[in-house]
Amino acid sequence: MTDTRWRDRLLGNRALSPETLMMGYGYNPFLSERSLKPPVFHTSTFVFRSAEDGKTFFELAYGLRQKHPNEEPGLIYSRINNPDLEMLEDRLAIWDQAEASLVFASGMAAISTTLWAYARPGSVIVHSGPVYGGTEFLLTKILPQFGITSIGFLTEGGNKAMDDAVEAARGKGSIAVLYLETPANPTNGMVDLEHARQIASRLRGADSKQPVIVVDNTLLGPIYQRPLAHGADLVVTSLTKYVGGHSDLIAGGCSGATALLEPIRGMRTILGTMCDPHTGWLLMRSLETLKLRMAAAADGARKVAVFLSTHPNVAAVWYLGFLPEDHPDRLVFERQCESPGSTFSFEVKGGEAEAFAVLNRLKVIKLAVSLGGTETLASHPAAMTHSDIPQAERLRLGITPALIRISVGIEDPDDLIADLTQALA
Ligand SMILES: Cc1ncc(COP(=O)(O)O)c(C=O)c1O
Repeated sequence: MTDTRWRDRLLGNRALSPETLMMGYGYNPFLSERSLKPPVFHTSTFVFRSAEDGKTFFELAYGLRQKHPNEEPGLIYSRINNPDLEMLEDRLAIWDQAEASLVFASGMAAISTTLWAYARPGSVIVHSGPVYGGTEFLLTKILPQFGITSIGFLTEGGNKAMDDAVEAARGKGSIAVLYLETPANPTNGMVDLEHARQIASRLRGADSKQPVIVVDNTLLGPIYQRPLAHGADLVVTSLTKYVGGHSDLIAGGCSGATALLEPIRGMRTILGTMCDPHTGWLLMRSLETLKLRMAAAADGARKVAVFLSTHPNVAAVWYLGFLPEDHPDRLVFERQCESPGSTFSFEVKGGEAEAFAVLNRLKVIKLAVSLGGTETLASHPAAMTHSDIPQAERLRLGITPALIRISVGIEDPDDLIADLTQALA
């Protein structure tokens, strides 16, 4: 992949849009039998032309020397690099408006490999809450076994809660990471990334080290929110969701500056948490339609949210498009996000029994965890994705027994409304 024509982002003076670049960026058909689409490079290893080539490629891959200008890392072994993953990473970086990206075997692989790269025994991670259940488990149950502790703050407490958590963390150790999930799963609570940037800058030590701001952008990314433009250092995404978009794969991504990704790349090589070539190929296909799918789903979600908000058996709808003018999240939402997206939660009147009754009656909408697929899914966070969190903590985070999360797909929204009408009756 040394021919730079396949990496042109300009047509004359015109900067090509991501939508256009997704159709072929980084791929040279003339290196692959003129195949229009990239093949799946189902191979564990790559043949070196000479022993000298092998030496050169390893020097670069293992960081034994700096890259020469325009030098391309040579292909070695699919745990280190693979053409499908490299093309995918180039394209994901375009959507994320990042210098580079790395892709992983899952969203959790992206999150955990990133945290392993930046946290050390004695480090503290300050994180927003709620976070995805798996992330919560990693932060509160696994990392402490390695001397890495965390302090959470509730998104609804706003910047004051973030400040207080940082103050508390300073007393416990050195703050390695500000880990922020915004909008939060499942409550859609928002975190002010510009405020987080100010905090990180304030914490810069004499050695110029400061906490790395990592944002989980799964709920709106990469189309409707670009955290790197608002102060994040690294953005992690479960590509399983909107980016994959067809509920047929598991993968994750991490994007940011090349230098910040280097320790994560090294950790990924050793832990072996990279994405596999076939999944990478599927994701490239998905990136071609990402914007169309997210736009259609967002339109449908608005209609469904409006319907739910007027239903007598619905107590509350946590849809970002309904944030009142005077709600503190409203300003942050308007500054950081380009759409409310299509995943949100609502509370039925009653408790778990009433929520389960609605879920069990759904016919078109599938009762399943996950989000961001072409089909609409509904689930019960308190009993499913967030059931690991102790009950009192769950309630504090707003994950009540009456809460149902819905991820609206691209079906006819009127069919979804008909389904919800019969389920809520
Ligand atoms: C916000 C968020 N982050 C991370 C993850 C983990 O992603 P994966 O299931 O791809 O490991 C999920 C999964 O539901 C999620 O919702």
